[in-house]
Formats: sequence, C-alpha cells, structure tokens
Amino acid sequence: MGNLFRKATDPYQYDNSGVNWREYEAGLESPTRANFWEYLKPLSLAWRGKEVLDIGSGTGWLLELALKQGAKSVLGIEPSKKNVELGKRLYPDVRVLNVTFEEFKVQGRYDIAIALFSLGHIHDIEAAFKKIYLTLKPQSELIAVVPDYDYCRKDRFGYKITVEDVDYDEYIAMVERPETTTVDIIRSTSKYVELANKCEFALVENKPLPPTELLMKKNPRYKKMVGIAMAQLLRFRK
Ligand SMILES: C[S@@+](CC[C@H](N)C(=O)[O-])C[C@H]1O[C@@H](n2cnc3c(N)ncnc32)[C@H](O)[C@@H]1O
Repeated sequence: MGNLFRKATDPYQYDNSGVNWREYEAGLESPTRANFWEYLKPLSLAWRGKEVLDIGSGTGWLLELALKQGAKSVLGIEPSKKNVELGKRLYPDVRVLNVTFEEFKVQGRYDIAIALFSLGHIHDIEAAFKKIYLTLKPQSELIAVVPDYDYCRKDRFGYKITVEDVDYDEYIAMVERPETTTVDIIRSTSKYVELANKCEFALVENKPLPPTELLMKKNPRYKKMVGIAMAQLLRFRK
C-alpha cells in the first residue's frame, strides 16, 4: 500500500498541525456538522434511555447532543489527543477514551454504535464490524455515515484532490483545503454492506445525504451540489 494509505490509516492524523482546530471548536456552528445533525436528529429520538457508543468521536459533539436527547450513557472512542483535550473543555459531561477502536477493550454493551466519518480511517473494516457486533446488545443498531464514493473524487471548491486507487470498490483520497488536509479510505456502499452482512448485520437503511437547505443557506457554495450525495447514511440492525 502507498503513502496515502498510510496517512489515511494513521490514527494520529488529526493531531497534525494541518488541521484547523477552530472548525472543530465550532460545534453545531460548523455548517457541515449542522448539516449531518439534520439527518441524525430524527434518529436520535430513539436514543432516549439508551447506551450510545461513538467510534472516532472527534471532540464528542455528537455525544453531547445524544445526552441532550436523553441517552442514558455515552462513550466516545477517539485516538487523537488534540480532539480528546478539546472535548474535555467543550463537553465535560462526555466520557471519551483516548484509544483507537482497534485498541478499545470492550466494556459493557451498547444499544447504539455510531461511526460518523471514522470508518474511512480503519484498515481492517471486517474486523471492525465484527468488534462492533460484539460490542452491541441484541436488537441494537449501528449507524455509519461514510463519504460518498463518487463525490469524494469529484472536483470541488478549488480543493486539490489526490487519489490512490486500491481496487474497484476502494480508493484513497487526500483532500487539501485551505484550512485542512484530510486523507480517507473511500469505499463503495456495496463494499460496506457486503462486509457488514458477513458479520451478521442486516441493512435497514441506506440513504444518500445531499446538502440540506440549511447547509446551502449557511454556505451558498453548496448550492452547486444540490441533490448530489456527499455522504451515505447506513443503518444496520444486530
Ligand atoms: C473525520 S473525523 C470525524 C470525527 C467525528 N466523528 C465528527 O464527525 O466530528 C474522523 C475521526 O476518526 C478518528 N479515528 C481515526 N482513526 C481511528 C481509529 N482507528 N479508531 C477510532 N477512531 C479513529 C480520528 O481521530 C477523527 O477524530
């Protein structure tokens, strides 16, 4: 595997100075984060009284919202020290373990596991699905939001996009924006579904996520992307 693959799967990628932490401090003031919350909020109504695990929780902003929605308990898994430190200041009620999901020693069982743009940093996705399955209680749910396969290699907003192809279902994308450079493994939705099915998960929803009205209002450049999926929401049932 090439250099970009190593970068994409470096669990400390978000500790690099190339990431603009002001965006991370913005919580729901970040237009893109508010965009994805619009899609997750209706689902979060079912989190009341539930135990919620967030894999690659970043600063923990989503778990703070889960607590507000009445979750019984929340736990974040986050390898980046910077993210964890920021999260401690911003969301002191959110418990986050500073480890990778691979290192995480499963404690208890969860009703809901969420992976919001974090599966693209995990190399052995089949092993990750197996571990998530073991981490969940019966009748529980995995909610994954992954970058859209076509969108990620699309020319957009003057970003410099470098692609390293892996196979028909997978490539690595490095996206250099003025404020941040990120490197992710981009997989087709069918690849995610196939691997999750192998681990006994049943797909209950696959929803393309185009920019919401709110995002286009807050950041009009997204109007160019109207109706175009930027990400895919995948819900699996255990
Ligand atoms: C694109 S960010 C998303 C953060 C957060 N979910 C959000 O939406 O704001 C991806 C996150 O995955 C984390 N990550 C990277 N490798 C990981 C791993 N092996 N296990 C768990 N999390 C990982 C990164 O540190 C980063 O915080």
